[in-house]
Amino acid sequence: MPFPGLSPIVEKVRIFDTTLRDGEQTPGVSVSPEQKLQIAIKLDELGVDAIEAGFPIVSEGERHAIKSIVRQGLHAEICGLARAVQEDIDAALGCDLGYIHLFIATSDIHMKFKLKMDRDQVLEKAVWAVDYAKKHGVQVEFSAEDATRSETSFMKEVFQAVSQSGADRLDIPDTVGYSTPDYISRLVADVTTISPLPISMHCHDDLGLAVANTIAGINAGATCAHVTVNGIGERAGNASLEEVVMALQCLYKRSHGIKTELLYETSKFVSNAMRIIVQPNKAIIGENAFGHESGIHTHGIINNPLTYEPISPELVGRKRWLQAGKHAGAHGIRAMLEEFGLKPNDEQLKQILERQKGIADLGKSITTSELLSIAGKIMKNSTFQEKFQLRDFHTVTGINIIPTAVVKINTGDKDVISSEIGVGPVDAALKAIQKIVSQLEDVKIREYRLESITGGSDATAEVVVKIEDSKGHTISSRKTGEDIVIASVQAMMDATNKMILRKVILSGDTISTP
Ligand code: KIV
Ligand code: ZN
Repeated sequence: MPFPGLSPIVEKVRIFDTTLRDGEQTPGVSVSPEQKLQIAIKLDELGVDAIEAGFPIVSEGERHAIKSIVRQGLHAEICGLARAVQEDIDAALGCDLGYIHLFIATSDIHMKFKLKMDRDQVLEKAVWAVDYAKKHGVQVEFSAEDATRSETSFMKEVFQAVSQSGADRLDIPDTVGYSTPDYISRLVADVTTISPLPISMHCHDDLGLAVANTIAGINAGATCAHVTVNGIGERAGNASLEEVVMALQCLYKRSHGIKTELLYETSKFVSNAMRIIVQPNKAIIGENAFGHESGIHTHGIINNPLTYEPISPELVGRKRWLQAGKHAGAHGIRAMLEEFGLKPNDEQLKQILERQKGIADLGKSITTSELLSIAGKIMKNSTFQEKFQLRDFHTVTGINIIPTAVVKINTGDKDVISSEIGVGPVDAALKAIQKIVSQLEDVKIREYRLESITGGSDATAEVVVKIEDSKGHTISSRKTGEDIVIASVQAMMDATNKMILRKVILSGDTISTP
């Protein structure tokens, strides 16, 4: 298929990951040295070519983390950031780094208001810093910070001078994400005329163009993309690794070293470690990226996934899912039920659809287990009823009080009561549910996420609970509500019911009663 802008260049694109440096500069984020090491190992498994492990001058903990990453002996090259000042370069050298990312701003606004230096001083400092670092035998990537807002002739003068001083790579940062693909293309083409060094693109997403700008740079002759997992980073973040890689691979047929099937897993790992939630509609790794609700779409997907999916979910380590929402159609609902071995006839399917749409019209989202339960009632098959019905629960919490929860759950033929304590009311309530459920299935909570969707203390929160059974199969459920304890309990109940139903249906067993 012909794509506009298809580049004739075939060189493999180098992926320079800065999740641990620019990504960690995300407001409010800080990770421990041990977590940094774990993330570096994951990035290495993913196949990135270089890892910017941090900014050595910032703290003792940062230097400790960088040293431990260097010592790990990963395949990726490990790099550290330094300003064009001796103490930064010395701090980087002190971490045993063999690769330093040196930067100094070249835009008038940064030179005047931040550096308080004139052009001659900046030029001199850049050359001195590259020279100093090179004398210590390290590889140097030089960034002209705020390059896209710099006067091009001055930026080129600096690039030319540092190239002559022995820099190994040049980086063009769009520091405040204020550039366009057209401008970046021209800029990169221009820089290739004054230096033979490989060029990197480092784009921020302030106007939502980081990925497009990165790709424009690559198509114009840059060979390396600075990216972060999930696009995290200062302000609106950086170009996201997964989007850049998949766009380069799918649309521009460029090669890279990333194992794309590990993208989702890596994204989850980074999101959990850094405690930055990924927006559901984020390309490639967002929860909804391969989810389908509307009848027209699910019908198309069932006939041929390519109708509404540009790439296969498995390519990026994901699975598609269908949702029984208000826009769902007969084909989608039938496919969802068939996944659980249920084969309604046309009349039954019509009734299931009507009931399900009625619930959705009340503004309630319908979960898979609720759908199965509706189908079970209509098909007069008690196997497909929800196993556990929450009768009631209450929690107690406060200062100088041990958070406690009591839940009453109907397990088919009787009500069972259980109580538990926990670190808070949610923990106590979920443990109390687990206690009852464990009589039938050993359920472990693998993931719990809570996110406020609206502002204010009366905000609507979204809770995601992922549970795992004794065989390691996981299932998750998402609930929204104004009361986080209730939403958490509902999500836990739903996930549990789904797990039991799936197990029973797939094994052909009947449900026993604890
Ligand atoms: O965005 C930026 O300009 C940077 C520099 C340190 C390269 O992150
Ligand atoms: Zn940056």
